[in-house]
Amino acid sequence: MTDAPLLIAPSLLSCDFARIADEVARTEAAGADWHHVDVMDGHFVPNLTIGPPVVSKIHAAATKPLDVHLMITDPAKYAEPFAKAGAHVLTFHIEVCRDEAEARAIAATFREHGVPQVGVALNPDTPVDRVLPILDAVDLVLVMSVFPGFGGQSFIPDVLDKVRRLRAEGYTRHVEMDGGLNAETLPLCAEAGANALVAGSAIFGAPDMKTTIAEFRAAARRARGEASRVG
Ligand code: DX5
Ligand code: ZN
Repeated sequence: MTDAPLLIAPSLLSCDFARIADEVARTEAAGADWHHVDVMDGHFVPNLTIGPPVVSKIHAAATKPLDVHLMITDPAKYAEPFAKAGAHVLTFHIEVCRDEAEARAIAATFREHGVPQVGVALNPDTPVDRVLPILDAVDLVLVMSVFPGFGGQSFIPDVLDKVRRLRAEGYTRHVEMDGGLNAETLPLCAEAGANALVAGSAIFGAPDMKTTIAEFRAAARRARGEASRVG
């Protein structure tokens, strides 16, 4: 299916923003592989979150890579500040692009500013065909399993077909899922072929974050057909 590594990425959208450095340390101690960072502009989505200065502070507090999800209308304009802020993965939404050429131009702009990995995201009602022409230009495809804007929404299972299609098309890089992942839905994502699994409320709302991440990892490994070991 895929050799892409299994990655558990807690979404800091659900953390205590008043204590963000502590929350970064807490998720790392609990076994997070990436920090998922949700950037919203109040235009592409009906919510506002954080910008490059806060991402830079998260980066300073982190030892794990920052997976920065740009839910913004003009990602190319902000490529440089997010690259400088320390984004390891920088993901834009395909819905902001008029055509394939524009999507390729955004990916190229991200790389010119030194972003190590470029991602493209698609909303639940966007056909996967929109991203197939640019798979050679991206390191990650983020298949949204809720409409972006808010944490704590319910998983939309129909989008799993997009993950299967990406793998069937031979895409071997990262396929990420984001929105409504929990103990029930996360194994479905891994079984379909997703390797990078984002969860906000299910991880930050858990009574014991370390146990929850270990359980998610074990369940995803089982779903991927790997030997399950905790850790
Ligand atoms: C939604 C964000 C997600 C969100 C997921 O717009 O992109 O990353 O934080 O939150 P949960 O896991 O609570 O659905
Ligand atoms: Zn996200």
